[in-house]
Amino acid sequence: NHESIEQTIERLGAVIPDYPKPGIVFRDLTPVFADGPALRRVVDALIAPFEGQFDFVAGVEARGFLLAAAAAYASGKGVITVRKPGKLPREVFSESYSMEYGDSTLELHRDDMPVGSRVLILDDVLATGGTLGAAARLIRKAGAEVAGFGVVLELGDLGGRDRLGDTPVTALIAY
Ligand code: ADE
Repeated sequence: NHESIEQTIERLGAVIPDYPKPGIVFRDLTPVFADGPALRRVVDALIAPFEGQFDFVAGVEARGFLLAAAAAYASGKGVITVRKPGKLPREVFSESYSMEYGDSTLELHRDDMPVGSRVLILDDVLATGGTLGAAARLIRKAGAEVAGFGVVLELGDLGGRDRLGDTPVTALIAY
């Protein structure tokens, strides 16, 4: 296979203008996830830079769950769910944030991992950094450390990386 991971994502990713709102150019990675070899390469590439540096993988609902579960399985670690409000049944931490097309809140169970755990946070797209920033605040509120952020695709114009501070960010392709 002579195709780079960037080329694979470029070939399989879909671009949808004016979704979910006028003016937003939506990058749909579900065809990348649907391709077996591509999914495996993407997941392997997301965990490789953080090898030996994390104890859990956290996924942001919903597309981040797919990556986080696969990455956790591949690395023999547990998976943590960072969820939309009202979905988690026990006591939670909550963080509100703004994203490219609206505002929202994320929640994390207060006791999903031991204090001091190192957590790799995964999602499909880094846009404004609002979502990943909120996920990081939740992990830190729970007394854990953010080992890094991994995303398949970064929308560089939105300055998301700058909102994530000094924590390392891996993006497999950037636009
Ligand atoms: N999340 C935030 N902005 C996005 C975009 N333009 N495409 C896909 N996911 C996104």
